[in-house]
Amino acid sequence: AVEIVRSRTGLRDIVAGWRMQGLRVGVVPTMGALHDGHLSLVRAALADTDRVIVTLFVNPKQFNSAADLAAYPRTENEDAAKLEPLGAHVLYVPDGEQMYPPGFATTVSVEGVSEGLCGAHRPGHFDGVSTVVTKLLLQTAGDFAYFGEKDFQQLQLVRRLATDLDIPTQILGCPTIREEDGLALSSRNVQLSAAERAIAPALAQALFAAADRIANGAPVIEEIEKARTRIVAAGYAEVEYLELRGEDDLQPMTALDRNGRLLVAAKLGATRLIDNVPVAYP
Ligand code: PAJ
Repeated sequence: AVEIVRSRTGLRDIVAGWRMQGLRVGVVPTMGALHDGHLSLVRAALADTDRVIVTLFVNPKQFNSAADLAAYPRTENEDAAKLEPLGAHVLYVPDGEQMYPPGFATTVSVEGVSEGLCGAHRPGHFDGVSTVVTKLLLQTAGDFAYFGEKDFQQLQLVRRLATDLDIPTQILGCPTIREEDGLALSSRNVQLSAAERAIAPALAQALFAAADRIANGAPVIEEIEKARTRIVAAGYAEVEYLELRGEDDLQPMTALDRNGRLLVAAKLGATRLIDNVPVAYP
C-alpha cells in the first residue's frame, strides 16, 4: 500500500532505512491532480529503482496569481488511489508550513534557461519552481528524479540547478503523454469547457505540422507564423510565445542548424496551455 507521509523527518527516517538496505530511490515531484502523464513518470521510476516517492505539494511560490493558485485542482484521495495499483511506495504530502516556515528567506534562481518563454510571461515562476525542487530533492535524497518533457523549460532548469548545486540526484526526462487527439495531458485540462476542449488539440496539431515542415527544410520564421495563425483561427485567444529553441541549450534558433524544440504557450479562454515538440536536425 502507498504510505502517506506528511512530515519531513518521517520521510527522512524512511529513506534512511531504505539506504541501510542498499535500496535505490526514485522521486517523482508533482502538484497532484494526477493523470496518465504523472503516472508515466511513476512507472519509469518503478522500472529503474527499488523504492518510489511521489511528492504532492501545490507550491504557492510558483503561481503568479492567488486566483490561479486557488483554482488549482486538489484531489489527494484520488491521487493516492491512482498510485496504489502501480505500487508506488510513499506519497509525500508536506504542508505549506513545513516547506516555508516563518522566517524562510532563501530563493534558488537559475539564469539562462529560465529566461524567455514561460520565464518572460510568468515573473517569479521559475524561482518558485527552482526553490521548491531544490528542497524536494534534498528532502527526498533520491538517486533519480523524473520530470516530464511536457514542461521542457522546467526540465532543463532542473538539470541545470542539480548540476550547479552538486545535488547528487540524477535528473531524467520522460516523453509527453497525450490524448488520442494530440492534446498533452495536463492538470489544467479539467478547467476547459466542453467547447474549449474541442478546440484544444489545435495547439498540438499546429506544433506537429510546423515541426514536420521545418524538419523537412521549410523556413523557420514562416512556419512559426503559419502555426500562430492556425492556433488563433482555431479559437485560442492569444499565443504568448511560439519559438524554435535549441534542444539542449534552449537558445533561440532562426534556422535548423542542430536539434531543436518548438515550444508554445497559448490561452484558451481563461486557461493557459503549454506544449512542445522536438524538431530533428536531419
Ligand atoms: P505538475 O504540473 O504536477 O507536473 C509534475 C510532473 O509531471 C512534471 O515533471 C511534469 O512535466 C510532468 N507532466 C505533466 N504532464 C505531463 C504529460 N502530459 N506527459 C508527461 N509528463 C507530464 O511540474 C510541476 O508539477 C511542478 O512545477 C513541480 C516540478 C512539481 C514543482 O512544484
